[in-house]
Amino acid sequence: MERTVKPPARARALRVRACAKINLGLEVLGVRRDGYHELRTLFQTIDLHDDVVIRTRPRGLVVRCDHPGVPGDEHNLALRAALELQRHAGIARGAEIAITKRIPVGGGLGGGSSDAAAVLLALDRLWGVGLGPAGLHPLARRLGADVPFFLVGGTALGLARGDEVYPLHRQVRGHTVVIDLGRPVSTPAVFARVDQSLTPRENSNRIFRFVSSDLEGLRAFSILANDLERAALEEAPDLTDQVGRIRGILIQEGAALASLSGSGSAFFGLFDDGRRAQGAQSALRAAGFSVLRAQTVSLNQYRRMWARSLGTRRARGLGNQSRSRHHGNHGRQGHPGRG
Ligand code: C5P
Repeated sequence: MERTVKPPARARALRVRACAKINLGLEVLGVRRDGYHELRTLFQTIDLHDDVVIRTRPRGLVVRCDHPGVPGDEHNLALRAALELQRHAGIARGAEIAITKRIPVGGGLGGGSSDAAAVLLALDRLWGVGLGPAGLHPLARRLGADVPFFLVGGTALGLARGDEVYPLHRQVRGHTVVIDLGRPVSTPAVFARVDQSLTPRENSNRIFRFVSSDLEGLRAFSILANDLERAALEEAPDLTDQVGRIRGILIQEGAALASLSGSGSAFFGLFDDGRRAQGAQSALRAAGFSVLRAQTVSLNQYRRMWARSLGTRRARGLGNQSRSRHHGNHGRQGHPGRG
């Protein structure tokens, strides 16, 4: 992989954006020996983001966040990311991480995982470690199943625990509305409920069909679903009515896809037209919901964003597709999203 340009000697801080993700589809295939679940998922970055400022300091690691629900100790995934890189590279220097939260916490939007990946990328540069996204992948996996995706971004297939990430050749572009139900749902609890009702689904292939078929436009998205939705609503039955109303409004307003993200509780609608997304936002707000608007961020947009943030000359640092199987370019033929 092409190494990034070394930062100027005086670079001591970076301000970066940590994007949220949505899962356009998610299939649970079974339980693995390590207790995790074998997944097939379609990840998509969106431009809803946290702001993360990372500053080097002579010693010690500190994290601050403006959101009361985010821990300020070693339970914080961004802090653990810094610790992981420090240990891995034998770095004695420290860092200060300040997170301004915009991504709803506990919403299945990957906010904590994205912050952690952002810290890995930023400190890799500020500390002059030079691992790059492919070299950071094993560290990201140890932090959490969703973290590796944020080293890649765009529209990508996630396999195994969701941590084997394959960017798709054709990228989905669209407008999203994200409904924050303000009710964190525990991911382990949702997966535990899935186990109670799990039937072997090795033959489930909706995501592979989506990735490889010639289906176009709205029909393509209609075959996608999130296998965690039922379990999430069993875990948070108080949300069932709201989710039903939200889905109804999104479909009525012309959403190509209306789904829970990850294990919830955030729900989203995907639109190919900004005016429809605007209409859905207004209708949902009128019904009393808290709604955020966002656009999809493609692989190239994500790379460019990171190249700018890290001050690298070329947008090649992220998702380099030629050197790592985790960054391979799959699904070349006929991704139905609008490339
Ligand atoms: O890896 P991460 O800590 O983000 O995962 C949170 C929890 O979600 C895990 O502890 C596990 O219970 C569940 N999980 C799973 N299978 C996956 C991903 C997550 O069971 N593929």
